[in-house]
Amino acid sequence: MFTLKVNGQAQQFDGDPTMPLLWYLRDELGLTGTKFGCGVAACGACTVHIDGEAVRACRTAISDVNGKSVTTIEGLDPEGNHPVQKAWREVNVPQCGYCQAGQIMQASALLKQTPHPTDAEIDNAMYGNICRCGTYQRIRAAIKQASGA
Ligand code: FES
Ligand code: FES
Repeated sequence: MFTLKVNGQAQQFDGDPTMPLLWYLRDELGLTGTKFGCGVAACGACTVHIDGEAVRACRTAISDVNGKSVTTIEGLDPEGNHPVQKAWREVNVPQCGYCQAGQIMQASALLKQTPHPTDAEIDNAMYGNICRCGTYQRIRAAIKQASGA
């Protein structure tokens, strides 16, 4: 039996300990904001926070999250008004949108750790989050806006 918190709510799971966290979030809890892209930790679409750190949910077994706290895009802010989400709207970042939950979760973890990142720090934090629509310039601009730069 595993216990964890997801978006502040206590959860229990007694199924397959090797189940990827991404499957658990989407199929067991119905939290479909976190996306499947590659399944091999190479695109960032499935990024969530575990105890505040950005992690790829597709390559994290549910057993590795035992006793930890998971935040998904649904739990980042109850009204969708986290500073990163506000900046994303103001800069009009998304195109198709598929990668954007992962981008926002990665960016919000960056700003928690480094409130005023340089361009190099932004690039370093975000390089693993792929956007097939090529919204990278707007992503960087929105991160800067959210940081108050
Ligand atoms: S689906 Fe997890 S990194 Fe691509
Ligand atoms: S907005 Fe389409 S993949 Fe990023």
